[in-house]
Amino acid sequence: MGRDIGTHIHLSRNCHREYILCCLSYYRFSKRPGCLEAIRRTIPGAETEGKGFAMKVITLLNEKGGVGKTTLAVHLAAGLAIRGQRVVLIDADAQANATIAFGLAKEPGFYDLIVRHAPYQDVMRLIPQDRYAPQDSIVRELMLIPSNLETRSISTSISDAFAVLKRLLELRETVDTVVIDTSPTPSLLHSSIYMATDALLYPTLLEKWSFDGLRESIAHKEQFQPIRRQYKLPDITFLGIVPTMTRLRTLEHSDNLTYLTESFPGQVYDPIPLRTIWTEATSARKTVFALAPGSKTATDAWNFVDRAQEVLYAKA
Ligand SMILES: Nc1ncnc2c1ncn2[C@@H]1O[C@H](COP(=O)(O)OP(=O)(O)OP(=O)(O)O)[C@@H](O)[C@H]1O
Ligand SMILES: [Mg+2]
Repeated sequence: MGRDIGTHIHLSRNCHREYILCCLSYYRFSKRPGCLEAIRRTIPGAETEGKGFAMKVITLLNEKGGVGKTTLAVHLAAGLAIRGQRVVLIDADAQANATIAFGLAKEPGFYDLIVRHAPYQDVMRLIPQDRYAPQDSIVRELMLIPSNLETRSISTSISDAFAVLKRLLELRETVDTVVIDTSPTPSLLHSSIYMATDALLYPTLLEKWSFDGLRESIAHKEQFQPIRRQYKLPDITFLGIVPTMTRLRTLEHSDNLTYLTESFPGQVYDPIPLRTIWTEATSARKTVFALAPGSKTATDAWNFVDRAQEVLYAKA
């Protein structure tokens, strides 16, 4: 599998070239150097030229559905807020699962932010603390930019590859971490998210279809690195791969975990076992930190948050 994943990424570079070119030709990029420079200058804060910003944007991706992207995005955002960070969670999926996960109403928050240029105070929603943190704990406020079906129209409504980056940079003085939950279907919106992202985290099942989605996602990341360099944006950090809903007693899962760890040495997080508390928390519209703070599941969630934070600051 190690070689398989590597070979596939290599082979798929050509296949993905068309995808990337299609994305980029859609945007109003110009190849004239003066024009590129002008576009770069329009990104507020881009004067740091490749150094990046103190605020970090972490995106969860896997072009396969149902692998735990939303679950981990929600718990990463909540965990960092409980640890004292100023966090904004962006629901960039028209399914609006990250919005529903906290019992909040589906709204076109992300659409309004990116397409209608709405001010943040009109689109940000405060997540009630009892939804994400243990009772009586002292934590930071956690903010959400919600989603609804209109998120699907963003990719056909924007013509600026930096649309997401430009809006997120407005937060850089007031926010420590932005967490973006994405849809499994790649779109032009994903391209704009790649330009805005500092670090990528890949949840995966220990199953073939999920590995296929993982390969596709990693190949897309590689395609965007040279484009980012062209605009003097730092390379996207590979935050790692998180095996979710694992059943390591089955031969399939234990073999696939071995494949994965051999393919990406040092990059695979501790597997998060399949446990019913995760779905119970989803139904209760809470995180496992709020629903069952003393549970093994909450410990699994904390291990994940700690590792992501460790890798982010080690590589930043
Ligand atoms: N470790 C786990 N054990 C059991 N259930 C889990 C676990 N992690 C996530 N789930 C459940 O799996 C389902 C799918 O997870 P989630 O919605 O996070 O996936 P996703 O990748 O965001 O899906 P989509 O691609 O459709 O957005 C949810 O009902 C969630 O509660
Ligand atoms: Mg999801």
